[in-house]
Amino acid sequence: MKPKVVIMGLGYIGLPTAALIASRNIEVYGVDINEKVVNTINEGHIHIIEPDLEGLVNHVVKKGYLKASTQPRSADVFLIAVPTPFKDGYKPNLFYVESAIKMIIPYLKKENLVIIESTSPIGTTEKMFNLILQERPDLEEKIYMAYCPERVLPGKILYELEHNDRVIGGINPESTKKAKEFYALFVKGELFETDAKTAEMCKLVENAYRDVNIAFANELSLICDKTGINVWELIKLANRHPRVNILQPGVGVGGHCIAVDPWFLITNFPDETKLMKTARKVNLYKTEWVINKIKEKARNFEKEQGEKPKIVCLGLTYKPDIDDLRESPALYIVKTLFKEGFDILPVEPNVDSIKGLDLYDVNTALQEGDIIVFLVAHKVFKNIKVPNNKLVLDFCGIKEIYR
Ligand SMILES: NC(=O)c1ccc[n+]([C@@H]2O[C@H](COP(=O)([O-])OP(=O)(O)OC[C@H]3O[C@@H](n4cnc5c(N)ncnc54)[C@H](O)[C@@H]3O)[C@@H](O)[C@H]2O)c1
Repeated sequence: MKPKVVIMGLGYIGLPTAALIASRNIEVYGVDINEKVVNTINEGHIHIIEPDLEGLVNHVVKKGYLKASTQPRSADVFLIAVPTPFKDGYKPNLFYVESAIKMIIPYLKKENLVIIESTSPIGTTEKMFNLILQERPDLEEKIYMAYCPERVLPGKILYELEHNDRVIGGINPESTKKAKEFYALFVKGELFETDAKTAEMCKLVENAYRDVNIAFANELSLICDKTGINVWELIKLANRHPRVNILQPGVGVGGHCIAVDPWFLITNFPDETKLMKTARKVNLYKTEWVINKIKEKARNFEKEQGEKPKIVCLGLTYKPDIDDLRESPALYIVKTLFKEGFDILPVEPNVDSIKGLDLYDVNTALQEGDIIVFLVAHKVFKNIKVPNNKLVLDFCGIKEIYR
């Protein structure tokens, strides 16, 4: 018998997961507190940008396998995919996970499986299990609960949801087994069994690892700037060592994962996470360093030319070739310079508009600008011919990485 599934949260993770499961002819009831999101999905459309997703959602809604609502109902499997941002002091904010759990509690019954996919601090699954039992002691030893983190790449979510390996950790071995059987219905990647705490930590560690590695690359870029060495060539050469894999430096680290998840470890284990905390600091410092470099160039220009330069900033998203501005260091750089009175011409071909900023098309900006700053290595920038009379600052190695 195919299970009936309720998915709490229909964002970048919940909606593609709901659509993929529904495409296996499994009844999925998607729940979101945002009524607009629910209506959009029930009309067969989507509210996020993700290739191929709208077609699949349209198909499964029409076939009746995916329905959206603002309220849950009874089912066999409940999957939680709501946000886990941080609050002041970088402390993890479990408000959304807790409220999603509280919403499903009245509908839970014997043999149900509850899975948390939201990125969470160690111990969250057990905490949520206890929250359920507090209100429903009748479910003691009657339900299964597991944690299964998500590791998809925006832009390739549907493919990766199906093909990536998954780490599945239950609060007990029976829960792990149940959750594994569920994921086997729609995942082709390998399914690895563990316990809930290890699965929770695994997700945090993956992103903390990338943050530390990028911090290393950013630190190298600072030394290279002082010594006149091309950091991208240096890293390319060092990576020819068979056991070395240094990531790329940039203007900092952005997005809702790598810039956020390490804090879930650092705030709960401050004495044990000196390296991770330093990496966070290095990556945050790199953004300030870039701002200072741009200011220095602008002041020198003004001294020599007697007028303020027009500064073209190329790329505002948090990484190349996407439209996502969350925690973007490039956007922070542009907004900071703009607030401080610098004459900024921002260019972001992947985004239609940004509140408070006038976006320029790349050719107009290149003609009008005096200083051309490469912040994000979008593919569309790789063949840009900067007029000879302009000053250039390249913080993303635009020519080097596409060489
Ligand atoms: N987006 C990614 O690439 C990615 C990758 C790995 C892990 N994650 C993790 O997955 C989780 C979800 O991320 P996302 O990017 O899908 O977030 P999102 O903001 O795109 O979507 C979350 C949705 O949950 C809804 N919501 C909030 N509270 C709710 C509730 N009580 N009941 C029902 N719906 C509720 C919101 O309205 C929103 O539509 C987060 O913990 C995130 O860290 C995301």
